[in-house]
Amino acid sequence: MTDARRVHTQWSSRMAFILAASGSAIGLGNIWKFPYLTGDNGGGAFVLVYLLCVAALGVPIMMAETMLGRRGRQSPINTMLALADEAKASPLWHYVGWVGVLAGFLILSYYSVIAGWAMAYIPKMSSGMFSHSDAAKAGEVFRELQGSSQLQFIWHTLFMTATMAIVSMGVSAGLEKWTRYLMPLLFVMLILLDGYAMTTGGFGQGIAFLFKPDFSRLGGEGVLAAMGQAFFSLGLGMGAIMVYGSYLPSHVSIARASLFVAAADTIVALLAGVAIFPIVFANHLAPTMGEGLIFQTLPVAFGQMPAGATVGALFFLLMFFAAITSSIALIEPAVAWLSENRGMSRSAAAFWSGAACWLIGLGTIFSFNDWAGYTWFGKNFFELIDFLTSDLMLPVGGVLVAVFAGWIMRPADSEAELEMGAGSGYRVWQFLIRYIAPAGVGLVFLRAVGVI
Ligand code: TRP
Repeated sequence: MTDARRVHTQWSSRMAFILAASGSAIGLGNIWKFPYLTGDNGGGAFVLVYLLCVAALGVPIMMAETMLGRRGRQSPINTMLALADEAKASPLWHYVGWVGVLAGFLILSYYSVIAGWAMAYIPKMSSGMFSHSDAAKAGEVFRELQGSSQLQFIWHTLFMTATMAIVSMGVSAGLEKWTRYLMPLLFVMLILLDGYAMTTGGFGQGIAFLFKPDFSRLGGEGVLAAMGQAFFSLGLGMGAIMVYGSYLPSHVSIARASLFVAAADTIVALLAGVAIFPIVFANHLAPTMGEGLIFQTLPVAFGQMPAGATVGALFFLLMFFAAITSSIALIEPAVAWLSENRGMSRSAAAFWSGAACWLIGLGTIFSFNDWAGYTWFGKNFFELIDFLTSDLMLPVGGVLVAVFAGWIMRPADSEAELEMGAGSGYRVWQFLIRYIAPAGVGLVFLRAVGVI
């Protein structure tokens, strides 16, 4: 055991790990991205493929990533180096860690812009400007924000600064405590919104849209988007969960913790979908509105609720909080590497990685206004970064983790680390990770490019 492994800090308890991992998993992916991707990709069939991907690929890969992290007990890059060495495999495996650092950077660059929108909506909501407003007004307010690079610049800068400040303060300090109260509150708010959705005339239509699969509406790109969203929402394939795994005490059951986190993440996404689509149909809006979907629908709902201004402001505040617990995890692989390998202090590492993300994020801001006309392969800058990360890098990173855990690491080691007891749990996991994960991701890629 190296020194780095011995002095590495650990979570206070299993619950602390679960809270932190759920905090990284539950974020804009659930509340903002899941609804709009579902809307763009025709509804039920997309949701079904998404759920399948979470169960068959997401959970086993989450277990694998957590396990590698706990065994390596360092940043993802150094963990992969150490574990490759232990398995007498090529040190080239540490490039898995690099895919993660890069993906985290790129995701955070646009994540921060969208989180900035959520922040911008806190004062907007509390001002009461949406009181009894209709969908047309909500659309107008959103387009004004999206059209203004100056306003987005300010909110994006604020969000990145907050992320850097928290990251430079250290791992579990403070945030763990907040997560414990604020995430359940977010959950309650979503249930409240679901209750409201039931009172709108669009509830039946919204539920049918979400849960009645119509495969004629889901093309190859949609299947790829569903898989990418599964990786994105669970926060897999980029070493972030590996970092959390590295702080996990050795007696904790990885299988149970992973199942819990995946279930919580999925439930929150579905609750958000159930809240939003009835509002969409009740107001005769198109579900294919894209990245502005929740910002153009939820304010209408809050505008009609008693105390809607306060409830709405609180909702966007909680959304901001959910975003920041994810953004901390997105940047952590880079920060961990810079402080372990480059001898940087945590604050310096947080500052420099944050500054780089911030700069790339400007591209996303401009893609909604000044650069809206520039596209590559039919995608603007934001869509391109999103595609490269969610649909390519995360699934590839996830499969590499699966192949390493299933084929490279000695089964005796993975079995010992997972500690799943005498039942068939370990065999099931091994089968999913060895065969289903690589084959599933491979098939989806082939389908997306039209080969099958
Ligand atoms: N899961 C986060 C969300 O749903 C986004 C995300 C993707 C993420 N990859 C991650 C968060 C890695 C933390 C770590 O919003």
